[in-house]
Amino acid sequence: MTAMENVWLDIGTIDDIPRQGARVVKTPMGCIAVFRTASDDLFALNDRCPHKGGPLSEGIVHGTSVTCPLHNFVISLETGLAQGADKGEVATFPVRCQAGRIQLEASQLARSKDAA
Ligand code: FES
Repeated sequence: MTAMENVWLDIGTIDDIPRQGARVVKTPMGCIAVFRTASDDLFALNDRCPHKGGPLSEGIVHGTSVTCPLHNFVISLETGLAQGADKGEVATFPVRCQAGRIQLEASQLARSKDAA
């Protein structure tokens, strides 16, 4: 086993998250929002909007973006970057689906400084 080997944390089934919805996973480094798009793609982001910390998990998912429920920043689920004229970035984390189970890559969580 190498030190760089990925460690995947099982966080539930894909059916635990409605399409165009999100689920919050509490980690020692902070809350991570795991989003499921209309086409069943999964994305994991820090659950704090880069604007004023709004809960992105309560936002509206459209395409591969989420609109923050507080002041309508649109955040790319793929890059974590604010879209349009808005500025800011939120941390993203590797997530995958294996046989219907959602898994988060744990070493990324441990390395994240802005997920607290
Ligand atoms: S806190 Fe998200 S847009 Fe202001």
